[in-house]
Amino acid sequence: MGLLLKNISALLSVYENAPQKLSGAEMKKLPVIENAWLACDNGLIADFGSMDDFPGITDWKNLEVIDCTGKTVMPSFADSHTHIVYAGNRSQEFVDRINGLTYEEIYNRGGGILNSAKKLRGTSENDLFEQALERLKEIISQGTGAVEIKSGYGLNVESELKMLRVIRRLKETNLIPVKATFLGAHAIPEEFKNNKQGYIDLIINEMLPAIEKENLAEFIDIFCEKGYFDEHETKHILEAGKKHGLVPKVHAEQMSHSNGIKAAVECNAISADHLEFCSDDDIALMKKSDIMPTILSGAAFFLNLQLPPARKMIDAGLAVAFASDFNPGSSPSGNMKLMMSLACIQYKLTPEEAINATTINTAYAMNLQNEVGTITNGKLANLIITKPINNYGFLPYAFGSDLIDTIILNGKVWK
Ligand code: NIG
Ligand code: FE
Repeated sequence: MGLLLKNISALLSVYENAPQKLSGAEMKKLPVIENAWLACDNGLIADFGSMDDFPGITDWKNLEVIDCTGKTVMPSFADSHTHIVYAGNRSQEFVDRINGLTYEEIYNRGGGILNSAKKLRGTSENDLFEQALERLKEIISQGTGAVEIKSGYGLNVESELKMLRVIRRLKETNLIPVKATFLGAHAIPEEFKNNKQGYIDLIINEMLPAIEKENLAEFIDIFCEKGYFDEHETKHILEAGKKHGLVPKVHAEQMSHSNGIKAAVECNAISADHLEFCSDDDIALMKKSDIMPTILSGAAFFLNLQLPPARKMIDAGLAVAFASDFNPGSSPSGNMKLMMSLACIQYKLTPEEAINATTINTAYAMNLQNEVGTITNGKLANLIITKPINNYGFLPYAFGSDLIDTIILNGKVWK
């Protein structure tokens, strides 16, 4: 059965031919049709236009119709950076930080990522899947219509594969498109504390071949940071991943300037994420590449980090994406509408820029720009119907209100 949305007050991000991404001044453009209709068929966007040119319909019997009077319709958010497969939570570390410990001190005591690794290793694949599925459903209810999910809390062969198999099962639920990223180089596990090279060898010689054999990931990521992996190790591991068919991404310049952006650009990474310590030279480097600089506004907010220079990047002509980084340690929220609000409030993006940064540009950052991210015929019909609002700027403005009326996934109302 097809789905018809009619009397849409504003239909956002409409393109006959969608661009791959939006950069610099283009990010301010948000093509809108007021008083619009949109039809979905076979899970895809079939057609759309103005109610003034509403086509004659003969087959109403096979059509579900939703009257969207007063409501805005936009493409679902695309979240290109999450770690939603994890066991339990780290709310105790939240309190520890309130009481004065730093993220770094917590890690050095065997907490942080290592705490999540301990918990995850002791959790069965089924249990992990159930916990992650809850989170997937939560972010869907908050408007996410495509997601990237990383491993990186296993830190040994068995548990990294366990995480990636859970991600594959999430993908197989066919709720929304899911992209898998191998993040074995997220931290140095306790048992390799004094032998980082041994762990890098394990990643390269054992994890990567096993992942390729089971076709478990599309991307490879690494935490390039002081105390984790340096620029040279980052490049070495990313190049090894490329040999196994994986496309690089990098956690770069989050807590210090560690040349993660440089490594990412040199390895042709699809995105460099975090970027709190991004320098002017880094901006110039990224300008010469196709990389998607990705700001993780939830993590910078939750850890009280200095803010990445998003405004400066856009003004320099770069594209910028905003993703959630949903994870138990640095961003225990996958609410993309909140990430969009933070983009406006803290980083001075306009509502148009923030909507583009959380839809089309994040879609590009996970190579889904031809499937989602804009209202374009043939793209997946994953949509948000808002509650009645006067203009789309109200979405980031009302930062604590959910404002979502109906979620459409694969051309059907999601319940
Ligand atoms: O993206 N920065 C490194 N990794 C995660 C945090 C992971 C954690 O603390 O569990 C991040 O912020
Ligand atoms: Fe992350």
